Amino acid sequence: MRSSEQNIESLEPGAVLLRGFANGEAASLLDEIERIADAAPFRNMVTPGGFAMSVAMTNCGAFGWITDRKGYRYGDIDPDSGKTWPAMPEAFRDLARRAAETAGFVGFAPDSCLINRYVPGAKMSLHQDKDETDFAAPIVSVSLGLPGIFLWGGAKRSDRPRRLRLESGDVVVWGGPARLRFHGVDTVAEGEAPCRYNLTFRKAK
Ligand code: SIN
Ligand code: FE2
Repeated sequence: MRSSEQNIESLEPGAVLLRGFANGEAASLLDEIERIADAAPFRNMVTPGGFAMSVAMTNCGAFGWITDRKGYRYGDIDPDSGKTWPAMPEAFRDLARRAAETAGFVGFAPDSCLINRYVPGAKMSLHQDKDETDFAAPIVSVSLGLPGIFLWGGAKRSDRPRRLRLESGDVVVWGGPARLRFHGVDTVAEGEAPCRYNLTFRKAK
């Protein structure tokens, strides 16, 4: 698919689903994820309430999103290794910038990429991305591997979410008036890949 033929689906003002946007790069993105996970292995972090998340996570970039008994936050050090997070690959940065621009957010420069790994049975409950210092930048979310049902909610947790099936290569971008929308992922089902990955690009600081 040429980029001029890209399938752009508007979810609401400030939020778009770019179907297949990362299709051409999926294999190399998966290679990069493997390389990053060699340096900063996936781990099931613990929520402030003391529950281990079903989604395993790692990060690349200057800042990584972490959670433990002390709370949700960004840090420049991987608490498991005591070292900085692996650098964000140029191809990641470039994909995020292009996707944001296609969605109408020019000049997106993420300093953080959270990498989520959902084995079948894993899910992520409705939440807002609000640990960033500045909500002016959008969120760019790339799906790879197994399909997933993305829950696209509203401004309140109790707003009934839309259920959007995301395939490998799909990218969702939200910002501006949609920046603080509740969202999540329903339980991932078994399928033709071992797991679902999600790359979430953010400007954390
Ligand atoms: C997230 O909101 O952190 C993950 C979204 C997704 O996996 O698609
Ligand atoms: Fe999120």
